[in-house]
Amino acid sequence: MPRDLAESAWTLDGAMNLPPVEVIFGHTSAMREIQEKVLRVSDTNVPILIRGESGTGKEIIARLMHVHSAWKSGPFVKVHCPAIPETLLESELFGHEEGAFTGATSAQQGRVESANGGTLLLDEIAELSAGAQAKLLQMLQDGEVFRIGARQGKSVQVRIVCATHRPVEEDIRSGSFRPDLFYRISVVTLHLPPLRERREDIPALAEYLLQYYSRKFGRPVEPLTSYLLQLLQDCEWPGNIRELENLISRYVLLGPEEIVAQDLATAQTESTGSQEGAPADVSLRRIARNAAQGAERKAILQVLNANQGNRKKTARELNISYRSLLYKIRDAGIPRKGAMGKRPPGTEPETNDGRTDL
Ligand SMILES: Nc1ncnc2c1ncn2[C@@H]1O[C@H](COP(=O)(O)OP(=O)(O)O)[C@@H](O)[C@H]1O
Ligand SMILES: [Mg+2]
Repeated sequence: MPRDLAESAWTLDGAMNLPPVEVIFGHTSAMREIQEKVLRVSDTNVPILIRGESGTGKEIIARLMHVHSAWKSGPFVKVHCPAIPETLLESELFGHEEGAFTGATSAQQGRVESANGGTLLLDEIAELSAGAQAKLLQMLQDGEVFRIGARQGKSVQVRIVCATHRPVEEDIRSGSFRPDLFYRISVVTLHLPPLRERREDIPALAEYLLQYYSRKFGRPVEPLTSYLLQLLQDCEWPGNIRELENLISRYVLLGPEEIVAQDLATAQTESTGSQEGAPADVSLRRIARNAAQGAERKAILQVLNANQGNRKKTARELNISYRSLLYKIRDAGIPRKGAMGKRPPGTEPETNDGRTDL
């Protein structure tokens, strides 16, 4: 197994649908520390607890650990605990023998057994019923699963990864989660930061997702402008990477940046409203700045288009100097077709007639 995660590049097209590790971990020190830990523990059989808000990438990390473990050729089984009714959860996880309860017409193995030789991800672990918690603890202690109604246990080799967005300590205090189970499952804990605490990683994530959805939908797209990237970095992202991913897929499908910019302005206003303790003036200033930039950008684009991209005419019509139009074009990140990625927009040399292709 590779010792250095960065050496191997899994892509979403790979068997486990994973982004490259540099995209997963990015550049913040918090994520770098997590990368270090993941590297150290992937190949050990200790239980892992992954904590973090919804959409921060808990499942991606669990899958990454699986492909870096000695049992990577074994199954990766995910159980989303809240999705299974409490009355069925125990049987679903641990299986049952024939006649164990009314309706148990035949013996059935549970998900824990089906993950034998691989990894079991228990997502939203705080939702486990008391019965399921007791059985899981027993399994972690003895390495055996007891199907409901079974007199004998079956030995299993399963790497357990648990995930939760809940403050489980509160559930322990209220008595709904067993502290002994908590200590067992949290030998190694990874805390994934929310996206708003790793804003510097947003451009790389966005570019990656853009390429991914462009390929997936078979739609060629232009790279994101610096203006849009700035907007993305300014958002609060209460839904974290999942929300960013949804927006990018919509952008690839629906196109014009203006539509997305409007979405973003709404998202920003909404998330600012729900943010507690944030200095309101800072966010308001941001929103006002973005709104003003957005309006200015739209006006410049309209006049440029009306003048077939002639910037000298555009500057005259907008009643600003030619130089300040160039600055504004650059600051707004208005792309020039065919010039993307070559030099910052607006800094390209002028042609004789001042025309540019938009
Ligand atoms: N680092 C990443 N790079 C690209 N996509 C990511 C990354 N982390 C998460 N995602 C995507 O964001 C969505 C949410 O990730 P997931 O692992 O399901 O989060 P969680 O389990 O914390 O809710 C998924 O669609 C996943 O593919
Ligand atoms: Mg999840």
